Amino acid sequence: MYLFNSEIVNKEKLTQNIFRLRIKAANDFCRVATPGKFVMLGSDDSLFDPLLRRPFGICRWGTDWFEVIIKIVGKGSSQLSKLEKGASVAVHGPLGNGYPINKPENEQNTLILVAGGMGIASIASYLFAAFDRKQPLIGTFLLYGAANYSELILLNELTDADAFGLQLQTITDDGSCGRQGLVTQLLSHELQNNPQSQVFACGPEPMLKSVQKVLQKNECDGFLSLENRMACGFGVCLGCVQSMINEDDETSVKTAKVCTQGPVFPAQQVIF
Ligand SMILES: Cc1cc2nc3c(=O)[nH]c(=O)nc-3n(C[C@H](O)[C@H](O)[C@H](O)COP(=O)(O)OP(=O)(O)OC[C@H]3O[C@@H](n4cnc5c(N)ncnc54)[C@H](O)[C@@H]3O)c2cc1C
Ligand code: FES
Repeated sequence: MYLFNSEIVNKEKLTQNIFRLRIKAANDFCRVATPGKFVMLGSDDSLFDPLLRRPFGICRWGTDWFEVIIKIVGKGSSQLSKLEKGASVAVHGPLGNGYPINKPENEQNTLILVAGGMGIASIASYLFAAFDRKQPLIGTFLLYGAANYSELILLNELTDADAFGLQLQTITDDGSCGRQGLVTQLLSHELQNNPQSQVFACGPEPMLKSVQKVLQKNECDGFLSLENRMACGFGVCLGCVQSMINEDDETSVKTAKVCTQGPVFPAQQVIF
């Protein structure tokens, strides 16, 4: 992982309160980035106000740049939203473990990616990495849910992925795009058709809880990418800990640091 000040090389407004930053990468940053990893970002003076950098998924990267997509929810994200092209930004990363893409995924018939709201930034990192390697996505589903059509960011870019074989389904709370309902309804349906699937999911905690239940019911494996609040991002403050089932003794509980041991965990280990 690297700690450096870098330059914003592009800024794009995606909605009223969601924007994308392309940031110059240092050293070997892009070689060690993998889908699901994240960075801690702050404006140059963020070590004073707010005190801490904030975590954001690395959504896409090239040879010497990476992109993050940020929703403005409070002080840190609002401060970042004021930075324009050419401004300096403090970066710490890539951090975390990322999705287990080198694990048994290929032994499974189908990969189902489940994204809720801003969870798409993390899930899309898997898809963009595949597009950029020209890797076919036959047998890969993206189930993408959001409050409404305008919150379904990246939809055009992801729809282009039809050419790679990606099967995209959307669902919204208000029915303004795709079916009306929750993304876990799409997951239940797809798992009935494809019971041998591997599942990666990222989104708000209530959605992840519900994904976990659907996986349990269908006796299916999956991984959840957690977005707990973080302070340091590298394992020293214990600000991000999550209760987990102890795999050595299933009757006991342990804690895991989401920043260094995650953010991606086997779904059945997480205790919400
Ligand atoms: C590994 C990881 C990856 C993330 N990736 C992205 C991403 O790609 N894009 C993105 O927009 N956001 C992402 N987030 C969430 C992002 O870090 C928070 O929205 C951000 O830290 C909020 O900082 P703030 O100073 O703007 O808000 P604050 O002033 O700190 O908080 C404002 C409000 O948001 C709530 N809040 C803050 N952090 C979180 C959180 N982690 N989960 C739920 N509620 C929270 C607070 O409770 C408060 O109500 C990610 C978080 C993690 C841990
Ligand atoms: S954020 Fe400090 S230990 Fe995880």
